[in-house]
Amino acid sequence: MQAYQESFARIYNLRWGEWAKSIAPYLEKFLASFSNVSEQPTLLDLCCGTGQLALHFLQRGFRVIGVDLSESMLQYARENCKEYLEAGLAQFIHADATDFTLEEPVQFAVSTYDALNHLANLEALKKCLKCVHRALMDEGVFIFDLNTRLGLRRWATLRIEDEPNLTLMQSGLLDEAGRKAWVRIWGFLRAEDGRYDRFEETVFNTAFHLTEVSNALKETGWHRWHFSRLGDLNTPLEDPEQEGRVFVVAFID
Ligand SMILES: C[S@@+](CC[C@H](N)C(=O)[O-])C[C@H]1O[C@@H](n2cnc3c(N)ncnc32)[C@H](O)[C@@H]1O
Repeated sequence: MQAYQESFARIYNLRWGEWAKSIAPYLEKFLASFSNVSEQPTLLDLCCGTGQLALHFLQRGFRVIGVDLSESMLQYARENCKEYLEAGLAQFIHADATDFTLEEPVQFAVSTYDALNHLANLEALKKCLKCVHRALMDEGVFIFDLNTRLGLRRWATLRIEDEPNLTLMQSGLLDEAGRKAWVRIWGFLRAEDGRYDRFEETVFNTAFHLTEVSNALKETGWHRWHFSRLGDLNTPLEDPEQEGRVFVVAFID
């Protein structure tokens, strides 16, 4: 389990929330293509982090339920989506992706930025897939992205950024045999009063084999899914292990 800590949530909100924002239009376009989309569709944003993706969908008329294990990340999500939270259109729940239940089923679910690689092993992934399956309505769709083993090779590096307001260091490691990659991210972020706050987080990703992911989907009740690229979510990839990151599109029939 990897709930991001407070010091890291602050820098995540400033820096990495942008990625979710940039991919949200592709997910929205794909989900909107379903002819059964209701006037106010509901979306589960699993491992929602600081809520930038949730905000995109809320601004486009969706109701959103965000779930995350980190109370610190959820606080930013609640702040970023305040207007919609107050209007009763958003909800942010503190829960584990491998053990949650929603009160009402949703039409769509997403989980982005390799959030499901944060699960410790295949058993945890299966539990999560079961929870999402149970949370979706008939004809529901779940999209999640995964770093592949190829993509995780890029983690084994050292990066240093030094800007006036931020010093950021990332040191990564990949254990291919053990199927785990780690990255330690630490540095200093300038606060409003001019002092520098230190942040630090060690994140791991589990390097799932995509055949195992397929088997996990099958075992947990999914009947139809494919691996794709963000830019073309309709088209199944012939050899998804050759990608650094894949988007899994799974359907409830
Ligand atoms: C890389 S961030 C992705 C956040 C967001 N989806 C985005 O696209 O920016 C991973 C998130 O997963 C959350 N997380 C990790 N393990 C979790 C678990 N078992 N259940 C729920 N959330 C989890 C972390 O707290 C963090 O917010």
